[in-house]
Amino acid sequence: MTILGIETSCDETACAIVKDGKILSNIVSSQVNLHKKYGGVYPELASRAHLENILPALKGALEKANSQLESLDYLAVTIGPGLIGSLLVGVNTARTLSYIFNKPIIPVHHLEAHIYANLLKKTQIFFPALCLIVSGGHTSLILMKNHGQYQILGETLDDAAGEAFDKVAKLLDLGYPGGPAIEAEASKLKSKNEKLKIKLPRPMLDSPNFNFSFSGLKTSALYLVKQMSEKQIKNVRRQIAREFQQAVIDVLVSKTFKAAKKHKVKSVLLGGGVAANKLLRKEIKKFFPSFSLLIPPSYLCTDNGVMVAICGYFKALKKKFQKWYDIKAEADAKLENW
Ligand code: KG4
Ligand code: ZN
Repeated sequence: MTILGIETSCDETACAIVKDGKILSNIVSSQVNLHKKYGGVYPELASRAHLENILPALKGALEKANSQLESLDYLAVTIGPGLIGSLLVGVNTARTLSYIFNKPIIPVHHLEAHIYANLLKKTQIFFPALCLIVSGGHTSLILMKNHGQYQILGETLDDAAGEAFDKVAKLLDLGYPGGPAIEAEASKLKSKNEKLKIKLPRPMLDSPNFNFSFSGLKTSALYLVKQMSEKQIKNVRRQIAREFQQAVIDVLVSKTFKAAKKHKVKSVLLGGGVAANKLLRKEIKKFFPSFSLLIPPSYLCTDNGVMVAICGYFKALKKKFQKWYDIKAEADAKLENW
């Protein structure tokens, strides 16, 4: 089964072709340079850039895979949640291709695609499973009872984890996207065991639910930096980066562990851009045996078309495809009962 996956929910224009669990091509056209000066995604610019990039990305994916639109079995496309102007580009590209080439479309939820990034090579999920999806727009703990059956256990009440990384990186003048920038800065500290003078809070670490909150952590970093001169900031930038990264990870790992215990899950799945973070990947491995823990390779954690195509594959098996005229973008698509 050959599937084209299209992803344009935020700032990556991505097209990929996956055949029977094998990646034939994976084109991700990044808009990082465009949004850098804003320290975050500028929605209007993002949708315009998607319009420019989508056809070259599609052409690139077909050429790399040595494939033609006529020979595809399905088109899978992210229909939400995300920025509406961005989503519309991917969705209308899929609709047009579907109309012209008479191919069924599989609508894909963005968080579900992040979960299915784990299922390349047809890996098995043991149910019930717990998914921690951490990205620029989401921080969610999701109980997955079976394929397509989800219950949200907790979400962020304010900033998403990735968003907090991006904002604190901006504060520290580290550039965009903030996650990789903070990770790189933190790793510059010479000794991993060096005692830090900087202390930041672990918000909602002990709250009796599975929700998150990262805006207070970001504000604590802001107050800290505000009291310092440029020279002082320069001296402790690495320490702040390390402590901030550790604080986010402490909360994510601790809540995931508690939720896994409470719901007696048989496997834990990670996904989303923040799951590319090496320290998070290392720390979570301490809590769960390797047979029960699935983490996508780093290049499939951030937005891409492969995860959309893999998710599409599982939906195609259940005949969850539609005609082009039934597909529409949904900026706030809900995962439950998807
Ligand atoms: O999943 P994604 O590509 O897009 C959304 O769906 O939002 O996630 C992007 C987010 C950004 O906030 C970025 O800073 C963060 O993921 N990110 C990271 C790392 N790589 C990307 N955060 C922490 N450590 C990383 N290595
Ligand atoms: Zn994403």
